[in-house]
Amino acid sequence: MERLVVVLMAAAVLLSSTVVKAALPPDNVSVQWNLLLNGLICNVTGYHDPIIIQTGMNLAQWHGLLALKQTGGCTKPEAVIAYASREILANYFPQQQDRVLDPFLAAKLVALKLSKSEKKLAKRLGEAVARRLLSKREIAYEFALDELRDAINARQANPTPGLIRFLPNDPVFGPDAFFVTHNIALQQPYVIPDPVKYVEEHLGDLKPMKVPSDEWDVQYDFLKDIGRIDWPGRTYDMNYTASLYLCGRANTTYCLIIGSFWTVATINILPANTTLYDIVETFAKVSVALHDALIVVAQQKDGYWFWRPQMAYEAGDARHQPWPTWTPYGRVIFTGEYPSGTTMSYGAAATVLQSYFGKKKVPFTVDGGGVFEGTSCYLAGTKVKSRRFESPWAAVEEAKLGRMYVGSHYKFSVDDGAEAGRRVAEYVLKHWGDRPASGVLPDSEYLNVYAELPKKSGDWNPLQYRY
Ligand SMILES: *[C@@H]1O[C@H](CO)[C@@H](O)[C@H](O)[C@H]1NC(C)=O
Ligand SMILES: *[C@@H]1O[C@H](CO)[C@@H](O)[C@H](O)[C@H]1NC(C)=O
Ligand SMILES: *[C@@H]1O[C@H](CO)[C@@H](O)[C@H](O)[C@H]1NC(C)=O
Ligand SMILES: *[C@@H]1O[C@H](CO)[C@@H](O)[C@H](O)[C@H]1NC(C)=O
Ligand SMILES: *[C@@H]1O[C@H](CO)[C@@H](O)[C@H](O)[C@H]1NC(C)=O
Repeated sequence: MERLVVVLMAAAVLLSSTVVKAALPPDNVSVQWNLLLNGLICNVTGYHDPIIIQTGMNLAQWHGLLALKQTGGCTKPEAVIAYASREILANYFPQQQDRVLDPFLAAKLVALKLSKSEKKLAKRLGEAVARRLLSKREIAYEFALDELRDAINARQANPTPGLIRFLPNDPVFGPDAFFVTHNIALQQPYVIPDPVKYVEEHLGDLKPMKVPSDEWDVQYDFLKDIGRIDWPGRTYDMNYTASLYLCGRANTTYCLIIGSFWTVATINILPANTTLYDIVETFAKVSVALHDALIVVAQQKDGYWFWRPQMAYEAGDARHQPWPTWTPYGRVIFTGEYPSGTTMSYGAAATVLQSYFGKKKVPFTVDGGGVFEGTSCYLAGTKVKSRRFESPWAAVEEAKLGRMYVGSHYKFSVDDGAEAGRRVAEYVLKHWGDRPASGVLPDSEYLNVYAELPKKSGDWNPLQYRY
């Protein structure tokens, strides 16, 4: 079996030799800091969600350019960007400051051949915008876990078809498996004003169905084979596509399924003559759309608490017998199923990139490199190929298939996720640069967290701050 896979892989690699050329120049300052961040994220684990860091850095670059334009200062924009980026990364990767960040910055400054006064001004502007950004971030409420644990435990005694059942002491994620999305749900967005209201006012038509129902039967039937590990019809291509949206990556700086993918996509889709300002603003918009989409989707996941395929097939419902041996192709994180966070992120980033080109279809390549890895990755050790996409949305379509072939999501959840991501991005683009309200509430740490799970499938009971 192993050998067969290797042979097939070799054939696949030979076939995929038509690759569109990388577009932005590799010496570009914004490109370089984004690639450095990718490398840091791959090598250094255990910090904040990478999208939070990526967004902070790209916004700091953009703020730096605006500040320079306004002050009319005599220094180089590349230097302001470099100082701003270094300041953000030093905040999130303090241990990397001496070994990686400062030498990297120093090398860039030498290459820019700055005068003393240019250097001083660049440092002042870059560091000031970065610190201001960092100081305005509210961290998520740190005691939320208690409220959530109580809410989840209270519902456990009473499993309901269509809702997640907590599986205590999950062998991989442990007792805290659920708490991944909850902390994200409570983070502060950049452009979306209030994520709970946003869901109610802009995404209210997207929600899971009741179980049992005819709509549910359709979803049940659609996924029961393609998501299952032992379906005799599974092809190698299905396995490979699933692995793209399941497995980690080793020996590459493109290790993340979402953040790194869109960083590389942005670099490769923008034409070589894109102005520095446009490069920086596009990176900032892509990151902010990813960031805010992640918070919105975490709210939806918690607020709907819809069950994952494995739970649904194992448990059965009024119209389906339990299917205790139903096993998904890939290990699934036990968080709310609806909607897919991957397709939501992809829909958001793709919409921003497409907006740069209007209606024109622009193909791009995302470099392969490295190998799949991970304990639940059946193709661990297989090389990751470069992939060509005919348009940003083509990547969203691939992500939809990938998450279904993993057995992680139903079809309506990948479709609705992509649509919700598209709407979040359009909102972000429409309100880009609006003056933010300062708000009437104190910091999140002085507020209560309200957590209660929905009573039945299709109900909406989001996690939120209350005063
Ligand atoms: C990219 O950045 C480099 C310096 O880092 C700069 O010289 C060049 O002009 C930038 N290119 C574009 C297209 O903005
Ligand atoms: C990440 O690790 C690789 C291999 O150990 C190394 O070559 C690379 O420079 C590291 N990147 C960063 C940003 O530390
Ligand atoms: C797909 O992956 C499963 C799980 O590793 C394996 O049993 C099956 O043989 C694979 N199918 C093909 C065609 O490679
Ligand atoms: C990564 O590369 C190193 C050095 O080339 C090699 O020893 C290691 O086995 C590789 N890891 C994987 C998972 O392929
Ligand atoms: C980049 O080049 C293309 C043609 O090669 C041209 O149409 C476009 O206007 C140029 N853009 C900029 C910002 O110079």
